[in-house]
Amino acid sequence: MGDVRLLHIAKPVIHFDTQQLHELLVDMRDTMQSLNGAGLAAPQIGVGLRVVIFGVQHNPRYPDAEGVPETVLINPVITPLGEGMEEDWEGCLSVPGLRGLVPRHAHIRYQGVDEYGDPVDRTVSEFHARVVQHECDHLDGILYPMRISDMSKFGYTEELFPGKEILEE
Ligand code: NI
Repeated sequence: MGDVRLLHIAKPVIHFDTQQLHELLVDMRDTMQSLNGAGLAAPQIGVGLRVVIFGVQHNPRYPDAEGVPETVLINPVITPLGEGMEEDWEGCLSVPGLRGLVPRHAHIRYQGVDEYGDPVDRTVSEFHARVVQHECDHLDGILYPMRISDMSKFGYTEELFPGKEILEE
Protein backbone atom coordinates (compact mmCIF):
# COMPACT_ATOMS: atom_id res chain seq x y z
CA MET A 1 0.00 0.00 0.00
CA GLY A 2 1.43 3.35 -1.02
CA ASP A 3 2.86 2.08 -4.33
CA VAL A 4 1.04 4.07 -7.03
CA ARG A 5 0.77 0.96 -9.24
CA LEU A 6 -1.91 -0.27 -6.83
CA LEU A 7 -4.00 2.82 -7.53
CA HIS A 8 -4.15 2.65 -11.33
CA ILE A 9 -6.97 1.29 -13.48
CA ALA A 10 -5.56 -1.91 -14.99
CA LYS A 11 -5.82 -2.50 -18.75
CA PRO A 12 -7.79 -5.31 -20.40
CA VAL A 13 -5.94 -8.33 -21.77
CA ILE A 14 -6.29 -8.52 -25.55
CA HIS A 15 -4.13 -11.55 -26.53
CA PHE A 16 -4.67 -14.94 -24.90
CA ASP A 17 -2.65 -18.14 -24.57
CA THR A 18 0.60 -16.19 -25.01
CA GLN A 19 3.92 -16.95 -23.37
CA GLN A 20 3.77 -13.56 -21.65
CA LEU A 21 0.38 -14.29 -20.09
CA HIS A 22 1.39 -17.80 -18.97
CA GLU A 23 4.56 -16.42 -17.37
CA LEU A 24 2.54 -13.77 -15.56
CA LEU A 25 0.27 -16.49 -14.16
CA VAL A 26 3.24 -18.57 -12.98
CA ASP A 27 4.58 -15.49 -11.16
CA MET A 28 1.18 -14.80 -9.64
CA ARG A 29 0.66 -18.39 -8.44
CA ASP A 30 4.16 -18.50 -6.93
CA THR A 31 3.52 -15.24 -5.10
CA MET A 32 0.10 -16.26 -3.85
CA GLN A 33 1.26 -19.66 -2.62
CA SER A 34 4.40 -18.43 -0.92
CA LEU A 35 2.40 -15.82 1.01
CA ASN A 36 -0.54 -18.08 1.92
CA GLY A 37 -2.96 -16.03 -0.15
CA ALA A 38 -6.54 -16.77 -1.13
CA GLY A 39 -6.18 -14.63 -4.23
CA LEU A 40 -3.95 -12.21 -6.08
CA ALA A 41 -4.38 -9.51 -8.70
CA ALA A 42 -1.72 -8.67 -11.31
CA PRO A 43 -1.27 -5.06 -10.07
CA GLN A 44 -0.08 -6.50 -6.75
CA ILE A 45 3.07 -7.68 -8.52
CA GLY A 46 3.35 -4.48 -10.51
CA VAL A 47 1.58 -5.59 -13.69
CA GLY A 48 -1.27 -3.32 -14.78
CA LEU A 49 -3.45 -5.92 -16.49
CA ARG A 50 -6.97 -7.09 -15.62
CA VAL A 51 -5.91 -10.51 -14.38
CA VAL A 52 -6.80 -12.09 -11.04
CA ILE A 53 -6.34 -15.56 -9.60
CA PHE A 54 -7.95 -17.07 -6.53
CA GLY A 55 -8.69 -20.40 -4.92
CA VAL A 56 -9.01 -21.88 -1.45
CA GLN A 57 -9.17 -25.52 -0.47
CA HIS A 58 -10.41 -24.83 3.04
CA ASN A 59 -10.68 -21.56 4.88
CA PRO A 60 -10.37 -21.59 8.67
CA ARG A 61 -12.47 -18.42 8.79
CA TYR A 62 -15.33 -20.21 7.07
CA PRO A 63 -15.17 -23.80 8.32
CA ASP A 64 -18.63 -24.55 6.96
CA ALA A 65 -18.13 -22.86 3.61
CA GLU A 66 -17.23 -24.81 0.53
CA GLY A 67 -13.79 -24.27 -0.95
CA VAL A 68 -13.27 -21.83 -3.78
CA PRO A 69 -12.05 -23.47 -7.01
CA GLU A 70 -8.64 -22.50 -8.36
CA THR A 71 -9.58 -19.89 -10.93
CA VAL A 72 -7.94 -17.59 -13.46
CA LEU A 73 -10.24 -14.67 -14.18
CA ILE A 74 -9.34 -12.12 -16.83
CA ASN A 75 -11.24 -8.97 -17.85
CA PRO A 76 -13.85 -9.65 -15.16
CA VAL A 77 -17.31 -8.14 -14.89
CA ILE A 78 -19.14 -8.40 -11.56
CA THR A 79 -22.91 -8.07 -11.34
CA PRO A 80 -24.36 -7.81 -7.80
CA LEU A 81 -27.45 -9.99 -7.35
CA GLY A 82 -29.90 -8.28 -5.03
CA GLU A 83 -29.30 -5.60 -2.44
CA GLY A 84 -27.85 -7.85 0.24
CA MET A 85 -24.57 -6.80 1.81
CA GLU A 86 -22.44 -8.71 4.32
CA GLU A 87 -19.59 -7.55 6.51
CA ASP A 88 -16.60 -9.72 7.26
CA TRP A 89 -12.90 -9.43 7.98
CA GLU A 90 -10.44 -9.08 5.15
CA GLY A 91 -6.71 -8.93 4.82
CA CYS A 92 -4.55 -8.23 1.80
CA LEU A 93 -1.05 -9.24 0.70
CA SER A 94 -0.49 -5.58 -0.18
CA VAL A 95 -1.54 -4.42 3.30
CA PRO A 96 0.40 -6.89 5.44
CA GLY A 97 -0.32 -7.41 9.10
CA LEU A 98 -3.70 -5.67 9.14
CA ARG A 99 -7.38 -6.68 9.07
CA GLY A 100 -10.52 -4.72 8.46
CA LEU A 101 -14.26 -5.33 8.50
CA VAL A 102 -15.45 -4.79 4.92
CA PRO A 103 -18.98 -4.70 3.51
CA ARG A 104 -19.41 -6.65 0.26
CA HIS A 105 -22.30 -7.79 -1.90
CA ALA A 106 -23.51 -11.10 -0.51
CA HIS A 107 -24.39 -12.58 -3.90
CA ILE A 108 -22.80 -11.85 -7.26
CA ARG A 109 -22.47 -13.15 -10.77
CA TYR A 110 -19.01 -12.84 -12.26
CA GLN A 111 -18.03 -13.22 -15.85
CA GLY A 112 -14.78 -13.05 -17.73
CA VAL A 113 -12.38 -15.37 -19.51
CA ASP A 114 -9.48 -17.62 -18.56
CA GLU A 115 -5.93 -17.51 -19.93
CA TYR A 116 -7.07 -19.27 -23.12
CA GLY A 117 -9.90 -16.82 -23.70
CA ASP A 118 -12.54 -19.37 -22.69
CA PRO A 119 -15.55 -17.97 -20.83
CA VAL A 120 -15.92 -18.04 -17.05
CA ASP A 121 -19.43 -17.38 -15.73
CA ARG A 122 -20.42 -18.16 -12.15
CA THR A 123 -23.03 -17.16 -9.60
CA VAL A 124 -21.60 -17.27 -6.08
CA SER A 125 -22.07 -16.04 -2.53
CA GLU A 126 -20.37 -15.88 0.86
CA PHE A 127 -16.58 -16.14 0.95
CA HIS A 128 -16.29 -16.94 -2.76
CA ALA A 129 -18.14 -13.72 -3.62
CA ARG A 130 -16.00 -11.76 -1.15
CA VAL A 131 -12.70 -12.96 -2.60
CA VAL A 132 -13.77 -12.13 -6.15
CA GLN A 133 -14.89 -8.62 -5.16
CA HIS A 134 -11.66 -8.02 -3.25
CA GLU A 135 -9.44 -9.17 -6.13
CA CYS A 136 -11.38 -7.31 -8.81
CA ASP A 137 -11.20 -4.12 -6.73
CA HIS A 138 -7.42 -4.30 -7.19
CA LEU A 139 -7.98 -3.86 -10.94
CA ASP A 140 -9.69 -0.53 -10.28
CA GLY A 141 -7.11 0.80 -7.84
CA ILE A 142 -9.20 0.03 -4.76
CA LEU A 143 -7.67 -1.49 -1.62
CA TYR A 144 -9.97 -2.90 1.05
CA PRO A 145 -9.22 -0.18 3.65
CA MET A 146 -10.95 2.26 1.26
CA ARG A 147 -14.16 0.25 1.72
CA ILE A 148 -14.16 0.03 5.51
CA SER A 149 -17.20 1.86 6.86
CA ASP A 150 -16.27 1.72 10.57
CA MET A 151 -12.59 2.53 11.04
CA SER A 152 -12.71 1.21 14.60
CA LYS A 153 -12.87 -2.19 12.88
CA PHE A 154 -9.42 -1.87 11.33
CA GLY A 155 -6.29 -3.02 13.09
CA TYR A 156 -3.35 -5.30 13.46
CA THR A 157 -4.04 -8.98 12.91
CA GLU A 158 -2.09 -9.88 16.04
CA GLU A 159 -4.33 -7.65 18.15
CA LEU A 160 -7.61 -8.62 16.52
CA PHE A 161 -6.96 -12.35 16.13
CA PRO A 162 -4.13 -13.29 18.50
CA GLY A 163 -2.39 -16.50 17.61
CA LYS A 164 -4.54 -17.19 14.57
CA GLU A 165 -3.30 -17.76 11.05
CA ILE A 166 -5.63 -16.22 8.50
CA LEU A 167 -5.46 -16.11 4.73
CA GLU A 168 -4.61 -12.90 2.89
CA GLU A 169 -6.43 -11.75 -0.22
NI1 NI B 1 -5.70 -7.79 -1.81
